[in-house]
Amino acid sequence: MKFFVDTADVKEIRELNELGLVDGVTTNPSLILKSGGKIIDVTREICEIVEGPVSAEVTATEYSEMMKEAAVLSKIADNIAIKVPLTFDGLKACKALRSEGHMVNVTLCFSATQALLAAKAGATFISPFVGRLDDTGIDGMELIAEIRQIYDNYDFDTEILVASVRTTNHVKQAAIIGADVATVPPATLRALVKHPLTDKGLEQFLADWAKTGQKIG
Ligand code: E4P
Repeated sequence: MKFFVDTADVKEIRELNELGLVDGVTTNPSLILKSGGKIIDVTREICEIVEGPVSAEVTATEYSEMMKEAAVLSKIADNIAIKVPLTFDGLKACKALRSEGHMVNVTLCFSATQALLAAKAGATFISPFVGRLDDTGIDGMELIAEIRQIYDNYDFDTEILVASVRTTNHVKQAAIIGADVATVPPATLRALVKHPLTDKGLEQFLADWAKTGQKIG
């Protein structure tokens, strides 16, 4: 499973990329706002750091306006994935952008039938938002399992990109179900390595090693 980092914070992306943990990046208008930067500048900087797909989202809601914005965004770098919302205009833009050879991430997916439409429109990625579904009392991971089943039934190439990830358990469940990608906020990505028994075990080994008085090399 690939890990994308769900942020427009360039410093975080640089650090996580150096750890070898970043296969791509997802941004959205809220994350651009949080970064305090201008979308073109921030996205260009991210694309200079990360080799994998970097999602940049259109903000227009009408097809031809989306296509104009997508033309600007796609010029930033070769690894841009244009992010479009799961609406009929977004799906139309998805189909057109794919035929032009661009990667497309269809975002704001909350149902299996929406995911089916995105796959039929040739989406490179579908982004189901598990955390926001959990917030409404619906198990977001059930949606991931449904989409996995549907895509496997018909051999769709669209990659399931689990979004709105809030916990390390979301990442675990996504991997068990067989999602292709999880886009994970930096803090959650860092939390994946943590286990109290790892810390305790390491502490014990180091204490015992010090008692041997030995050195390696
Ligand atoms: C990523 O593509 C999504 O925009 C993001 O994961 C949404 O996460 P949120 O629900 O925490 O805002």
